[in-house]
Amino acid sequence: MLIGADYYPEHWPKDRWPTDAKLMHEAGIGLVRMGEFAWNRFEPEEGRYDFSWLDEVMRLQARYGIRVILGTPSATPTAWQVAKWPDLLPMKADGTTFPFGIRRHYCPQHEGYRDACRRMADAMARRWGRSKQVIGWQIDNEFGALDGGGTCFCPRCLRAWRAWLRRRYGTLDALNEAWGANFWAQQYTDWDQIVAPMQPVTSQNPGLALDWRRFSSEGMVEFQQVQVDALRAHARDQFISTNLMGMYEELDYEALAAPLDIAGWDNYPIWAAEAVDPAMGHAVTRGLKQRGFLVFEQQSGPAGWNSMTAAPRPGQIRMWTWQSIGHGADAVVYFRWRACRFGTEQYWHGILGHDGVPRRRYKEVQRTAREVARLSKALAAAQVRPQAAIWHTYDSNWVIRFQPGWDKMTLWDEAKRFGRAFARRGIAYDVVTPKADLARYRLIVCPHAVILRPDHVEALRRFAEAGGTVVFTPRSGERTWANQVTPEPRPGLLRKLAGCSIGEYDMVRQDKPGQVEMAATGRLYDAFGWCDLLEIEGASVVARYAAEFYSGTPAATVNRVGKGRVYYIGASAEDAFYDDLLSRLAEEARIPTVGPLPPNVEVLERRGKAGRFLIIVNYTGDAQSVDIGAKGKNLLGKGTVGPKIDLEPYGVRVISVQ
Ligand code: GAL
Ligand code: ZN
Repeated sequence: MLIGADYYPEHWPKDRWPTDAKLMHEAGIGLVRMGEFAWNRFEPEEGRYDFSWLDEVMRLQARYGIRVILGTPSATPTAWQVAKWPDLLPMKADGTTFPFGIRRHYCPQHEGYRDACRRMADAMARRWGRSKQVIGWQIDNEFGALDGGGTCFCPRCLRAWRAWLRRRYGTLDALNEAWGANFWAQQYTDWDQIVAPMQPVTSQNPGLALDWRRFSSEGMVEFQQVQVDALRAHARDQFISTNLMGMYEELDYEALAAPLDIAGWDNYPIWAAEAVDPAMGHAVTRGLKQRGFLVFEQQSGPAGWNSMTAAPRPGQIRMWTWQSIGHGADAVVYFRWRACRFGTEQYWHGILGHDGVPRRRYKEVQRTAREVARLSKALAAAQVRPQAAIWHTYDSNWVIRFQPGWDKMTLWDEAKRFGRAFARRGIAYDVVTPKADLARYRLIVCPHAVILRPDHVEALRRFAEAGGTVVFTPRSGERTWANQVTPEPRPGLLRKLAGCSIGEYDMVRQDKPGQVEMAATGRLYDAFGWCDLLEIEGASVVARYAAEFYSGTPAATVNRVGKGRVYYIGASAEDAFYDDLLSRLAEEARIPTVGPLPPNVEVLERRGKAGRFLIIVNYTGDAQSVDIGAKGKNLLGKGTVGPKIDLEPYGVRVISVQ
C-alpha cells in the first residue's frame, strides 16, 4: 500500500528537486508519478531524446526509497510535431480544429503520431523497463478528456470510419438494413456516401450515431494498444495502466482496460456532494479488473483552472484517502505535489501551495500517510470482495444519452439509486461489464439495460439459474444491438427471463411524481421517470402503480428462474423504495447487511488472510453516529470500539473485527 504524489519536476528549477524529495520523504510519500506531459523535455527536437534530467530526479528520490510511476507523454504533442503535421489537430463536429496547447490535441487515427508515440514508449521502456524503482506505467492521460470525448471528424477519421463500417457489415445491404435506411431515404449506394454525425448526434440516425461512438471508442483503444505493445516489449515486473475517470461515459472502458494489468482512476471528490459519487467511481474502476486498483490522482487542495472550488476542510483529504482505500485502492497518489506558478492549472492546488512551504494540507497528508504505513501490510493483504454488482454496457449508456426517452434519464443516476441503498446497508458492489466473471456475485442489478445482445441475456440467465438474483430497471431490453427497437413485445430478449411483458409506458416528471405501492407492505412511494406498465406472464407482483389511469397495474415483478430470481422494476422511485427493495433482495440473496446507516456514512470492508477490516468514513462535515453491529480493535487509536460509533466531521475509523 503506497501513498504518492503527482510530481512535475519540469515545472521547477533543478535546485529545488532535492528539497522536494526530502519533503516528500518526510511526508511519508513513497511513490511519485511523473513524465506524462513532458514530451518537449523528452524529445526537444525530432529524434533527439533526453531522459537524463528525469534520471537525475529519480536518483534524488531513490535515496529515500521513493518509487516511480512513469507516464508516457502522448496527451501533449509538441509544437514541432504540430508544425510538422498540421493535420494532427483533431477536428470538431463543426469542421473547425482544436488549437495547439490545450492538451489531447491529436487525432487518434494519425499514423505519423501513433508511430511517434510508439517510438517514445519504446525509448522510455528501453531506458526504464528494468528499473526496480519504476513500478509501473501510465499510458497517456485521461483518454477522452476533450470536448467530443475522443471523437475526431477529420478527413482521415472519415476514411477510417468507412473502412470500419465495411469490416463490420461487409455489404451496404447489411448496413442499410441495420441502420433502417428506409427512413428518410437514408439508403447508401456507395461506402463513400456515408457521413459522420457532424450535426448534433441527437438528430442523426440512431444506428449511425451508436456505431460512430463505437468506432471512435475503438480508435482510442487502438491508439493505446500501440503503446501497450511498445512498453510490454521491455518492461519487466512493471504494470501497465492508464488513468481513467470513474463514471466517464464516452469511451468503452471495458475495452480500454482489457489490455492493461491494473485499473486506476482520478478522484476529485470536491464536486461530489454525496459519497455515492466517488464510491461509484471506485466501484467502476475496481469492477474493470474485479480487484484492487490505483488512484492516480486524488484531490489534495482547492481545484480549478480559472476559478476555484472551496479548500478541502480539515480532515477531508484524510477522509477521501481512507474512503479510496476502503473501496479497494492499493495506492493513492495525490494530485499534485505543488501548485504550479504558470500554465492553465495555476489554481489547481496540491499538497503544497505555490510557495512550496509545507502547511496544513502537507501535515494532513503526513498524518494520513503515517496511518496508512502502519496498517499497510495488513490492508494490502485484504481486499474488497463484493457479493453484489451493478452490470452495465457502454452501449446502453450511449443509447440513453442520444435518446433519453424520459428527458432526465441517465444510466448513472439509476445506478446511484441502488448505490445509495447499498451504502445504507453497508453492502459493497462492483460495477461490471459483460466480460466480468459473474459467478462471484449473488445479486446483480442492471440499470436501464436498454440494448442487449443474446449472449448478455444468456450469461444473466445462467447466473439466475444457478441461484443468483438479477434486477432490471425501466426500459431494459428495448433495443437490438443495432439500436433498433425490438420487434417483440418489450422487454424483448428479456421477456421469458422476466416473466412479464410491457404494454404501455408513461413518462412522469420527477417534480410531479406518480406513486407505486409495495405489494407485501402496502407502503407507498413516489415514482417517476420512464414508467413501464407490466403485464404478468408467469412472474409475481412486487409493486403496483397507485396513481393515474394505470393505477393497480404491476410496476415491479419477480420471476423464479432455476434456483434464482429475476426482478423487473418498471419505474424509478424515491430512495425509500430502494431501501425497502434492497432489504428484501439482500435477505433473499443471503448478503449480510449492517445499518441502516445515515446517508453519506460508509462502512467499507477489506478482508483476506490478515483478517477483516472495517473502514468507516463520515463523508459529511457533521458529527454522525453509526451502529455497525460489531465490536473491533481500533487501529487508528486505542482500545476497542463499537457497536455504536460516534464520528466527528469527516471522521474515519479503521477497525479489525472477527
Ligand atoms: C486531471 C488531469 C490532470 C490535471 C487535473 C487537474 O483530470 O489528469 O493532469 O489536469 O485533472 O485539472
Ligand atoms: Zn481525425
